[in-house]
Amino acid sequence: MEVTFKLNGETVTCPVTTKSTLLRLLRDELKMTGTKNGCEHGDCGACSVIVDGVLEKSCIFPARNLDGKEVLTIEGVSNADGTPSDLQQAFLDAGATQCGYCTPGMIMAGEALLLMNNNPTRQDIREAISENLCRCTGYQQIVDAIQATAKSRLNGGAK
Ligand code: FES
Ligand code: FES
Repeated sequence: MEVTFKLNGETVTCPVTTKSTLLRLLRDELKMTGTKNGCEHGDCGACSVIVDGVLEKSCIFPARNLDGKEVLTIEGVSNADGTPSDLQQAFLDAGATQCGYCTPGMIMAGEALLLMNNNPTRQDIREAISENLCRCTGYQQIVDAIQATAKSRLNGGAK
């Protein structure tokens, strides 16, 4: 079977099987490796993307369900000129990324939260990233980065 969906604003059509996942489609077929494979069991959040405005773990999202959907991955988050988005820059500024393996998923979790809540509390942010695991930073800096971006956007910053 084939699915047609929007990926970071561009229409793509791909053959899929009943066993294909969005993660495998992105990484193996479309060669978009920004989305990371951590556990492939829905437990770590490294593979997080946004589908129709909602945070999803792409490793457990059936590719056959993609038809007509809009998918946003980490590749679609940067500014048009390739520079880091405000949230990506905030991660850099806050020291919220070390090995970087969790970072794409964390960024997508942050973007998904800010789509729904433009003024989150630290507790809101902690809950929003609660299914995203980071071995390196202790989470404090990640919460700092998302909160700083929310404040910046409320004050008329990027996005
Ligand atoms: S790789 Fe998908 S949740 Fe871990
Ligand atoms: S920065 Fe290394 S796992 Fe999060």
